[in-house]
Amino acid sequence: MEKQKTERIDKILAMSGFGSRKDVKKLIKSGQISVNGQIVNNARAQVNPTVDEIIAVGKVLEYHKNVYIMMNKPQGVISSTRDSVESTVIDLLEGEYSHRKPFPVGRLDKDAEGLIFLTDDGKMAHRLLSPKNRVDKTYYVEVQGKLEKSDVQAFAAGIILEDFTTLPAKLEIMEAGNTSRAYVTICEGKFHQIKRMMNARGKEVTFLKRLSLGPLKLDEKLAPGQWRELTKEEINLLW
Ligand code: URA
Repeated sequence: MEKQKTERIDKILAMSGFGSRKDVKKLIKSGQISVNGQIVNNARAQVNPTVDEIIAVGKVLEYHKNVYIMMNKPQGVISSTRDSVESTVIDLLEGEYSHRKPFPVGRLDKDAEGLIFLTDDGKMAHRLLSPKNRVDKTYYVEVQGKLEKSDVQAFAAGIILEDFTTLPAKLEIMEAGNTSRAYVTICEGKFHQIKRMMNARGKEVTFLKRLSLGPLKLDEKLAPGQWRELTKEEINLLW
């Protein structure tokens, strides 16, 4: 017989869109959560969400079978599931959700930071990654060199790289000088794409941060290395 999976009540609530772990601890303390008719006041209480009836703030809780997490990946961490040498985004989850096996959707370079979306929902990952869906990703970049109007035009036309020509991309210059700052939006996810596009224009990326993936925006309250479950609204936006 399959072992029944229990999880901490605070984790179940956070995964069901009731806010951060801190928020749900407050909810639990306020006596607004019951399991099988009993008020729960211990955030660590083990509950089986597919069997037990959880009532949260007066409503029966709808349990998500999948996990959806946004992380602000710090520099120096790789966006793979496992590595014998390097620290990975999965290591940053510190074992939480280990039985669900979330994986990062798409890659961010080791020296880049910002939004990484992790899930165990293969269908959703596929939708976001499928080239035919052309999901926009926006990055904040700092480069060595002066960004010009001609760069904006070149990005919009598509940049010829060694092995492919990029689809039209949006370059919005915020500051141009010996070093420049800009936003870049691309709808592909080729290896080192922005660095290579900038190189093709004679600039070198010195800082790169992903701000959004499709409709999902990095929560600026998350410091590099921090993560949280998506809210219900964010999950719905992604579908
Ligand atoms: N472009 C890059 O060059 N690197 C990334 O990590 C993402 C986009």
